[in-house]
Amino acid sequence: MVLVTGGAGYIGSHTIIALDEAGYDFVVFDNFCNSSKESITRVENIIDKKIKVIEGDIRDAKALQSVFDTYKIDSVIHFAGLKAVGESVEKPLKYYDYNVNGTVVLCDAMSKNGVKKIVFSSSATVYGDPATTPITEDFPLSATNPYGRSKLMIEEILRDIYVSDNSWKVVLLRYFNPVGAHESGTIGEDPNGIPNNLMPFIAQTAVGKRDVLSVFGDDYDTKDGSGVRDYIHVVDLADGHVKALNKIDGFDEVMSINLGTGNGYSVIEMVKAFERASGKKVPYKTAPRRSGDIATCFADPSYAKDILGWVATKGVDQMCEDSWRWQSNNPNGYAKS
Ligand code: NAD
Ligand code: WQD
Repeated sequence: MVLVTGGAGYIGSHTIIALDEAGYDFVVFDNFCNSSKESITRVENIIDKKIKVIEGDIRDAKALQSVFDTYKIDSVIHFAGLKAVGESVEKPLKYYDYNVNGTVVLCDAMSKNGVKKIVFSSSATVYGDPATTPITEDFPLSATNPYGRSKLMIEEILRDIYVSDNSWKVVLLRYFNPVGAHESGTIGEDPNGIPNNLMPFIAQTAVGKRDVLSVFGDDYDTKDGSGVRDYIHVVDLADGHVKALNKIDGFDEVMSINLGTGNGYSVIEMVKAFERASGKKVPYKTAPRRSGDIATCFADPSYAKDILGWVATKGVDQMCEDSWRWQSNNPNGYAKS
């Protein structure tokens, strides 16, 4: 059975559907600090099955032990953690506690219970401000904020664990910019308060919850001056986790793998794509650059293809259509729709 930490969250909820489709049995472990139990109910409706869920915190060794006592876990997909870059600058200790300490407690519990396979949610943020694009996995690693540093530290910790005992199987999946939603329109990204990320902000503007999108910077050295990113459909990302689990037994080193499409789109291109998909206007205005942002970031995803047989299949139009279906059906996310 697969233990899915953070399985009620945005990427986790999509991944458990993919796990179910692939025939994996799983248990979700989540403290719901950034998710809703409603997401689990909705996934249950999609897969037409009850989901095993334990409410608990990965920093709580006893709570984790009871999961290992109750279920025969043989691998872990580890999503649980905090992800808001700005908040991490204000509250670094919270981020190191949830992300780094949480992972240490989790790995210790795994070790004590003889579970040595982990697929970890890393991020393209570990490449810092890359000298060139597309980005391959051997690029130098760096971080510009506590969130990014927590991901780098966790990568290092997992490498050290492998060095100490190379019967561990460790896959570091470096996601680029996850967007979109399940095609049903019943689950999706549900940020608290004002969204930090582009896609949910665009979607909330299109649905009328926000007046105008601020485009952070119009003078980057990019096709139209706005920032360029590699947006990847969350359903493709979910599939990457299943493919990683399918192959994990065969790996005899720590695997760092980019999950991206290999295509870069600007903020303005994303606005236009969303307008096409939704038929709604997305008013925007130019605003100053956001501190810490880089001009361009996109993956070379060829390693994922070679190693996992994984490629992204869904383009930006589909990302925007699916995101719009979720947003327009659930203008207030899970809470009040
Ligand atoms: P999310 O916030 O929707 O999901 C994270 C889940 O973990 C939530 O359900 C939350 O309640 C849970 N959680 C947090 N701390 C916990 C703890 N201490 N114990 C138990 N559960 C806890 O975020 P997401 O977008 O689904 O991201 C999942 C993972 O992927 C995170 O580790 C994130 O850093 C990483 N990631 C996300 C992105 C992105 O843009 N969404 C990009 C790269 C990497
Ligand atoms: C995308 C582009 C912004 C909002 C962040 C994290 C990264 C990863 C994914 C977890 C940029 C522009 C945004 C807005 C805008 N998360 N933008 N107006 O910054 O690439 O990555 O999320 O690991 O670590 O840093 O994503 O969606 O915030 O921004 O113009 O209101 O949209 O400047 O060019 P980012 P994003």
